[in-house]
This record gives sequence, structure tokens and C-alpha cells, in this order.
Amino acid sequence: MQILDGKLVSAAIKAELAEQVAQLKAEGKKTPHLAAILVGNNGASETYVASKVKSCAEIGFNSTLLRFDEHISEKHLLDHITSLNENADIDGILVQLPLPKHINEELVINNIDPSKDVDGFHPMNVGKMVSGLPTFIPATPYGIMLMLEHYNIETKGKHAVVIGRSHIVGTPMSILLSRNSNPGNCTVTLTHSQTKNLKELCLQADIIVAAIGKPGFVTADMVKEGAVIIDVGINRIADETKKSGFRLVGDVKFDEVAPKSSYITPVPGGVGLMTIAALLKNTYHAAIGQKGGMN
Ligand SMILES: NC(=O)c1ccc[n+]([C@@H]2O[C@H](COP(=O)([O-])OP(=O)(O)OC[C@H]3O[C@@H](n4cnc5c(N)ncnc54)[C@H](OP(=O)(O)O)[C@@H]3O)[C@@H](O)[C@H]2O)c1
Repeated sequence: MQILDGKLVSAAIKAELAEQVAQLKAEGKKTPHLAAILVGNNGASETYVASKVKSCAEIGFNSTLLRFDEHISEKHLLDHITSLNENADIDGILVQLPLPKHINEELVINNIDPSKDVDGFHPMNVGKMVSGLPTFIPATPYGIMLMLEHYNIETKGKHAVVIGRSHIVGTPMSILLSRNSNPGNCTVTLTHSQTKNLKELCLQADIIVAAIGKPGFVTADMVKEGAVIIDVGINRIADETKKSGFRLVGDVKFDEVAPKSSYITPVPGGVGLMTIAALLKNTYHAAIGQKGGMN
């Protein structure tokens, strides 16, 4: 069993980006600039946005964090997005989800200029991804593909079972893994809460991508010997021994699944860090006017 080390791989990607940014600056070109929008005080969202902003600083990107009260009106938020769209200094815009219930997330995403949509959620970019055209790939699936590529994991002809069909993880992951590319060329089964025989399907999987949001959902009896396990889940569970009062666990029961797997991502230290690295890559590509890094 080998750990797929998100810390190591994301550090390598960030080091490469830092060099590319230094090169841009040396040539008198524009420094990539990411604008992040955070609405309200959701603890997990605060942590994610803080990591993204910190990572920008580490590699020499500029970043702007726009924080709004949870009661901000939809109109006011859309006005801010319009002004970021029109601001030539801003290359990438990310709106941290989820948004408060009174704000229509779809409307907000649709109002981001697709050429600045570094999260890859705008329908135009999703359409391009499905068509195999160059575009911004949603950061979590993109990060997973970069991880598979880094470790040279054979995906061609393999059976991948993706658990969860969200627009941000499961669905794009299923599309990317089934593409005629490397990584890719998998036969993909996309599963969800209405799937009847999930355990049987998982037992046939060479690769499992778990993106459910339920701690320890994937257990050893669901996993074939030698399978590659990608755990996307980030779940907070109470832990009195921690200062914060919680710890993070994935959607996979790591201790019992790891010994059966050939490769496995830990939580934390796996996919989460790759998501940030992929977002930074998308932002770099936005800044140099080249969309997407995978096509
Ligand atoms: N590492 C990262 O950077 C990163 C990024 C994004 C998300 N995450 C984490 O990944 C997890 C999933 O996130 P998400 O946004 O994709 O979640 P989501 O939108 O809540 O989607 C969860 C998916 O799991 C499916 N599901 C629920 N119960 C199931 C069951 N018993 N059997 C099979 N499928 C089931 C749901 O099916 P239905 O569609 O039928 O409801 C849904 O498609 C969360 O823990 C989240 O925090 C991590």
C-alpha cells in the first residue's frame, strides 16, 4: 500500500507555479490575481478560503478576499461579481460555497465571467469540459487527476466507481476518468443514493472515488484487494482531545481499507491539498490567458 501524498504533490505543483510567477514578474508581466468571495461565518468555508488566500501569497500571486455578512442581498453580491468581472487586474474569481439559502447559487455562478471562472462551475465551462475542449476543470476533480498523473497510476481499461454525483466532484470526476486521455480511459460507474447494489459495484472497482460526505462510509468489505482509493470526503467529527473540539475524517474507513488498497489518499493530507493546487493552476492559466491545464 502506498499513500498518495497530497502534501508532497501539491508542494511540487506550488513550487513550479512559484517559478512560473517569478518568470512572469521578471518579464514585467502581470502578477496572477485571485479574488475570493466569502459570505457569512461558516467555519469550514472560513478555513478553506484562508488556505486558498495563504497559498496565493506563498507562490507570489496577489489575492483579494471579499467578506460579506450572511444577510447580504443577492443583488448586492451580484453587483460585486460584476465589478470583479470588469476589473482587468482580477484574473480569477471564486465564490466559496455554500451560500446562504436566500441567495441563488446557480445565478451567482452564472454571473461570473467564464474566462475568470477558476472553479470551473460556469455552465459554459462545464459544457466545454464535457466536450473535451480546453477550459477550467473544477478544482477537486482536476486535483485528483493531477495526483493520479503524478504517481503514474494506470487508469486505462480500469473500472472506476465514483460514489456521489455532485456537480463539483462526482459528476465531473466521472467525465474526466472516462475521457480518452491519460489519466482516463476508465470504464466508469457513477453511483449515488439511489444506487441499489453499491457494495457489489465497489467490489468490482479497480479505482474508487468516494465523494459522499459521510464519515467512514466505505468499509473494507466493499473494497477489492489492490484497489486505488481516492477519498474526497472532509467530515468534521467531535474530538474532545483537539483544541478545536473536532477532527477531520474522510468518507473511507482508512484504517481498515488502507491495508487492502494499492494506493490511498489520507484525510487530511490528500485530495484537499490537491484541490488548492489545482485552483492555483487554473488561476495561473486564467492570468496568462490560457484556459485549463488538462487539455
Ligand atoms: N477534498 C476537497 O477538496 C473537497 C471538495 C469538495 C467536497 N469535499 C467533500 O466531499 C464530500 C462530498 O462533497 P459533495 O459536495 O460532492 O457532496 P454532496 O453535494 O452532498 O453530494 C453527495 C453525493 O453523495 C451521494 N450519496 C449520499 N448518500 C449516499 C449513499 N448512501 N450511497 C451512495 N451515494 C450517496 C448523494 O447522492 P444523491 O445525489 O442521490 O443525493 C450525492 O450525489 C463532502 O465530505 C465534502 O466536504 C471535499
